[in-house]
Amino acid sequence: MSNGTEREQWGSKLGFILAAAGSAVGLGNIWRFPYITGQNGGAAFVLLYVLIVFIIGFSVMLAEVAIGRSAQLNAVGSFKKLKGGAWPIVGWMGVIAGFMILSFYGVIGGWTMAYIIKSFTGLMSIAEAGKAGDFFGGFISNGALVIGWQAAFMALTIWVVYKGIGEGIERYCKILMPSLFLILLILIVRSVTLEGAGKGLEFYLKPDFSKLTGGALLAAMGQAFFSLSLGMGCMITYGSYLGKKEILPGAAVQVCFLDTMVALLAGLVIFPAVFAFGVEPGTGPGLTFITLPSVFAKMPGGSVWSALFFLLLFIAALTSAISLLEVVTAYFMDEMKWSRPKAACVMGGLIFLLGVPSALSLGAMKLQIAGKDFLDAMDFVSSNVILPLGGLFIALFVGWVWTDKARREVTNDGAHPFGIMEAWIWVCRVVAPVAIAYIFIRGLKW
Ligand code: PHE
Repeated sequence: MSNGTEREQWGSKLGFILAAAGSAVGLGNIWRFPYITGQNGGAAFVLLYVLIVFIIGFSVMLAEVAIGRSAQLNAVGSFKKLKGGAWPIVGWMGVIAGFMILSFYGVIGGWTMAYIIKSFTGLMSIAEAGKAGDFFGGFISNGALVIGWQAAFMALTIWVVYKGIGEGIERYCKILMPSLFLILLILIVRSVTLEGAGKGLEFYLKPDFSKLTGGALLAAMGQAFFSLSLGMGCMITYGSYLGKKEILPGAAVQVCFLDTMVALLAGLVIFPAVFAFGVEPGTGPGLTFITLPSVFAKMPGGSVWSALFFLLLFIAALTSAISLLEVVTAYFMDEMKWSRPKAACVMGGLIFLLGVPSALSLGAMKLQIAGKDFLDAMDFVSSNVILPLGGLFIALFVGWVWTDKARREVTNDGAHPFGIMEAWIWVCRVVAPVAIAYIFIRGLKW
């Protein structure tokens, strides 16, 4: 409840799944997964990633949704209501992570918008000449332009959150998620049939386990948490808008599955193209923005394909950005009794400001924190530190503290037995915390 009115709710379980998948499927899948995979050696990393998603990711996701649905409150309020003590700190960390992630997410979201237009205004001919990298470099060095696009993206995000949970997000996701899928399939066909694609497929699909360093493990875990929107109360917040009748485990599996499919498919588009065009796979954040235009430029009607792709990337980013701002907004509404418009506008505005150094750090200025570009630093701290730690404590909460209630919440008070319930509890109790702690300690290197 907030401001004396009924808490908003999803229209249906499908609505929740689509909204949660909308949150999960985002830049993390199409922009971040391929370049992180590229930097960490390819196929062996991918295998490790999938393993982490379905053991740890799924368990933490179910834990979050159960916590949120039970408490019907934001991330901080949920822990206060269910247990109190120091536990609300976990929710607090989540709100801070939402702030940090959205700050740089808005920058990349802005890039996607710019590229929709650039697809028609010169990008194709430059990419055709093999200069997509220079084009991208030129674009991100133009500080005012990048900040302008970031502002536009943030304004849209704020606007949707301002409008509320309602039908908007649900109906939106229902059309957009299948279109994204379709476009990805078409792009895969184009990419794997490029000359020289084979090397890329090998890099992506043939594991070489000698490449798995401690850093790669941490990157896989950070990527899993980032991509599934876990460890920061996002699924707690979205779960809080779920009705008591919905069945949780199936929904959590479907969201994990959809998210992973899109990431794996995005890799199938990017890597064959990367190798076909001789781009370095470890290029970093620019990878998608450099390789894909090069592919489109070789296709008939390239501008249209390119614009369509960046439109879909933009939409995927927007549905995720909305969920990030919703975590922060829900906190200020429930706990501080702010109105939705005030929470969305004030916090969205502050997050935009925090994003400005990220926007400038990749080209316009050399803004670094201890040797990392500002944007990379924000990403590293939030994805590889705060999210895994948040996930660790959420798992511990379900495994040791709130265990019986968690059992009841995921079975709807016993009405829907959940076959692998005890396995889930044990993953939360031991497997996830130990794995997260181990990977964290082994891999934490700036
Ligand atoms: N999951 C989103 C993506 O893959 C990013 C995100 C992280 C959204 C955390 C919400 C919470 O792009």
